[in-house]
Formats: sequence, structure tokens, C-alpha cells
Amino acid sequence: MKNEVMEVTVWRGDAQGETETFEVPRKPSQTVLDVITYIQRELDPTLSYRFACRVGVCGSCAMVVNGVARWTCRTHVSKVIDKAGRLEVLPLRNLPVVKDLVTDMSEFFNKWSQARGYFSGNQTRYDDFATVRPDSPNRLEVDRSIECIGCGVCYSSCDVVSWKPDYLGPAALNRAWALVNDERDQAQSERLAKVLSDAGCTACHTHTSCSQRCPKELAPTSSIAGLKRLVGRQS
Ligand code: SF4
Ligand code: SF4
Ligand code: FES
Repeated sequence: MKNEVMEVTVWRGDAQGETETFEVPRKPSQTVLDVITYIQRELDPTLSYRFACRVGVCGSCAMVVNGVARWTCRTHVSKVIDKAGRLEVLPLRNLPVVKDLVTDMSEFFNKWSQARGYFSGNQTRYDDFATVRPDSPNRLEVDRSIECIGCGVCYSSCDVVSWKPDYLGPAALNRAWALVNDERDQAQSERLAKVLSDAGCTACHTHTSCSQRCPKELAPTSSIAGLKRLVGRQS
């Protein structure tokens, strides 16, 4: 690996932009985020990209690497570089490009809100903690779907989002499923009306790309299947 160099092609500009290629030295245990950081610090300080934690917690560093959406801070170059030693890094699909590798996430998070992906309780700070048995079926469903970091990898990987821009998408529906199973939540009928609409769970074609790509190993497809079962029960 000593003195080895790789060719890294990176998106530049907005949606009408084009790619630019850089030569970057290979290093042991190098991540894709390390590569992008090297380009910005050593080769072109105008390169825009987003990251915060560098350890897989904040969800801000997702990009499309050699054709697949990934969290770049936890993706090792050795796992994704092609046989010719090239890396192509593009902004997430299905979201407007602001500049270079930065996408506008507003639509993604607005859809969480449209799916009523936020908690509505009725307790005050003076009430006792609610008691939810850790082994109850609803709690187990919540535990399976709650650890989403909002990275947008699933959303970028979903073809239905590309065809049907109003589709709420895997992350918003996964969050809605977590809340549907939250015994404390008071907004269930409003939430169900949103997620059972045409832009909701019935639009999902069960391609499973979202579940295959989710870096937190969540299964939005399974959460959406849970919502579809509710549609069946309501019709
Ligand atoms: S399973 Fe549904 S939400 Fe997930 S990628 Fe496929 S169509 Fe999109
Ligand atoms: S469900 Fe997974 S891929 Fe989708 S936003 Fe959450 S953590 Fe990212
Ligand atoms: S930088 Fe926070 S998840 Fe990658």
C-alpha cells in the first residue's frame, strides 16, 4: 500500500454539474470519508460535503459510493474500491443537490413530519413514568425499528421514491411504524390516515433495497409490511 495512489471521481456543482477526478494516496484502514476529507484539505478546499460524528451516530455523511448509497465514515475503501483501483463518490439520489456532495435533506425530513413521525403523549412531568413491558410484542416492534439515524441511505436507494416523488419513503414509514407500536402515543388515527394514504405504505413495491442498504441493519420493508397489514384489517 506504500506509495499506492487511487483515482477518486467526485461530483462537483449542483444537479447540472459534472464529475472531477483526483489522485489520493491509499492508507491502511482508510474510510471513504477520510478520502473526501483528504481531497478537501489537501487538494481543493472548495469541495463541499457533510459530516459530524465520524463514528456512525449522526447520519450526516451518507453518499453514493461506486453506485451504492452508504455511510462514508464507516465504509472502508478496501471494501468498496473497484478492481481498477477507482472510487466514484456522488451525492445521495432522490434529493436535490445543493453543491458537490451536499444534498438538501428538507424533503426527507418533511416526509417524517407528514407521516406523523413524532411522538404525541398526554403525560406531564409530574406523572409517573409509563410502564411498558420490555417483552411485550409492541415494545419488541419498537425496539426493532427505533435506532434510525436519519442518514437517508434507504431513501436514496428506493426506486419508488424516484418514480413517485410524493411517496413518504422507507425512513418516514419505519418511524411511523415505531410510533404505531408505542402504547403511550395519542395520535394514532391521524398517523394511520397519513401512512395508509396513496403516498404511504401501499406504494411500496417491496424491493427491499432499503433493508439491504440500511447501515443500522434496520428493516424498513418489514415495518412497511406491518403498516400494510393494518390496511388489510381496516378494509
Ligand atoms: S421495500 Fe419499499 S420502501 Fe424499501 S426500497 Fe423497496 S419500494 Fe422502497
Ligand atoms: S432506516 Fe436506516 S438507512 Fe434509512 S434513514 Fe434510518 S438508518 Fe438510514
Ligand atoms: S459522520 Fe456521523 S454517521 Fe458518519
